[in-house]
Parts: sequence; C-alpha cells; structure tokens
Amino acid sequence: MPSRVFVTRRIPKPGLDLLAAAGVRTRIGQTDDETAVPRAVLEDGVRWGGVLVSLLTEPVDAALLALNPRLLGVANCAVGYDNIDVAAATALGIPVSNTPGILTDSTADFTWALLLAVARRVPEGDAYVRAGRYKLWGVNLMLGADVSPGGSGQRKVLGVIGYGRIGAAVARRAAGFEMDVLAYDPEARARIDADPGVAWAELDDLLAQSDFVTLHPALTDRTRHLIDARALRRMKRTAYLINVARGPVVDEAALVAALRGRRIAGAALDVFEREPALAPGLLECDNVVLAPHMASASVDTRGRMAAAAAENALAHLRGERAPNVVNSGVYETAAYRERTAAGG
Ligand code: GLV
Repeated sequence: MPSRVFVTRRIPKPGLDLLAAAGVRTRIGQTDDETAVPRAVLEDGVRWGGVLVSLLTEPVDAALLALNPRLLGVANCAVGYDNIDVAAATALGIPVSNTPGILTDSTADFTWALLLAVARRVPEGDAYVRAGRYKLWGVNLMLGADVSPGGSGQRKVLGVIGYGRIGAAVARRAAGFEMDVLAYDPEARARIDADPGVAWAELDDLLAQSDFVTLHPALTDRTRHLIDARALRRMKRTAYLINVARGPVVDEAALVAALRGRRIAGAALDVFEREPALAPGLLECDNVVLAPHMASASVDTRGRMAAAAAENALAHLRGERAPNVVNSGVYETAAYRERTAAGG
C-alpha cells in the first residue's frame, strides 16, 4: 500500500491521528490560517501523495487530478463536494468521498441559531451593549419578529428548500416552535410526503407563504441562483432568508438590493457567493447576520468529520471501497482498474 496522504490544510487531530496510527506519512499544504493553499503547493502535494484529503476551500479540478496517474482517491473533509470535478475524477478512475451524516445535527442547530439571531436581533443587541449604549431599558428597544406564535398567536411558516438530511433535521426542530413546515425539493418529493408535519409546496408557493425560508440544497446547475431577484420578490416583505448551504444558491447582488429596499425583512448567511468575499453593500446592510461558514463547527463534529475523511482516505489507499464514496460507479471502470493495478 502506498503510504502517503497529502492533506491540503490542517484537519482536526482525530483525522491526523488515524492516519498516523495506520503508518501513513502525511504532508500538510497549509502555510497559515488565512492564506489559501497556493496552486503550486497543491500540485506538488497531489504529485507526492497516494491520496488527496481536501477541504471545500480547494478547487480539485481535472487538471489537478490528472497530475498523478497513481492518485488513488480524493477524500473531501465536508459533506458538500462541489469543489471537486467528480465527473473528471470518475473519467480518470479516481474515487471521491465525503463526510455525510456526521454534521447534520450541528448544521441544523446552527440554522436555528441564525434564524433566531436575525429574527430577534441578537447580534445587534450584543453590539449595542458592547458599545456602551445600554443606558436604560426600553419598551421599544430591539423589537424583532417572533418565531413561535408569540404575541400574535399566529403560527409561523418555515419553508425548507432542499430536503436532504440537513433540511429534514431543520424541519424536525420546527415542532418546538409550533411552526407549520413547507418543503420543496424535486429530488425528495416522496420523503417530504412521508414526513408528518411537513407539507410539499412548489417553489413559488413556498416563497410566497413562508415567514422564514431556509436553504439546504446541494450546489448544482439546477440550484445555482435558485434564489434570484424574482424569487426574492415572491417572498413576504416580513420574511427572512437563511442560507447555510452554498453561497451561489443565492444571487447575492439581488439579495443586497432586496435587503436595502426592505423587500424582505432580513437574512442570515453562513455562506457567500464568492466566499470569503462579500457582495458590495452586504456589509452595510443592518438587516443581515453574517457568519464565516461555521454551521458544522463544533469540536465534536469537526473532529468526527476529520476522522471520517481519514477513514475514507485509508480505504482509497488500500484500494478498498471507501465508506462514503460519492462516485461508486468508478469502481467498475477500466480506468480505476488500471490505476489500482499501477500500484498506486
Ligand atoms: C460544509 O459546508 C460541508 O459541506 O461540510
């Protein structure tokens, strides 16, 4: 078995420990916490390693994958893998894996943290106190929107777009807030219909009826800019948009215009269209809560994700089926057989 894994950036210790315990040599491409791994470092690492462990910050494209005819796999330390050209990997006979399931709860919890934060103005309240502006309690201070029926007694509607593991986990948590839940995901119609307490809605209906719209689809050609100016116009003026999925699902320039014009009440974003860059004007909007792509960032979850990525990497190295392979058809290809026969 080849015994070298190139890890693009320092993953949490449980992952590195697993690789070390298996006798694997690792090289880490990261230079510091704020600089993306330079392309030349990535290329060197891919040529050096038998397997690549990547993060969502590294574009793993066809040209990078083609650099090493003995590369035996790519283990992405994330559930999303839109940073990887999976079609190119499959054509080259390279299995690709991810870390599904592990981060479902942490991400669903954080979705609610953002939803509550923007509706109840938590960051504004914090900033107000820190700035020394809290001189006298006020009956009109920091008025926000209820998530539960609250003062109006009216149940609120949560619209879930993308009904995979995370979308469904977000929907389950809505019961505690006595919300009605609508869901839209053409790939999960049967699951939505089978879930008690969740009703299918076409996209336009969901947008028009929801008080909170929360986004959980994978980024694909179909979901890129799913929320554009037209979709934002469909939303209630009192509604909030939450995105913990992928930035490009939202047309961020259109969102800035909607926030500025108060065409929606607010938004909370954990991801950005050109991450980490922000669309012009976003930072100046006072009705948006911003987070640095941290929805799965709990100590336990990130540690377990790193361990899962390491387990996938070890399986790739051994020429075994990886527990979380995303292109399982690759194992039947001649390209894969040739690659593994080459000895990795
Ligand atoms: C985070 O965004 C992930 O895909 O794991």
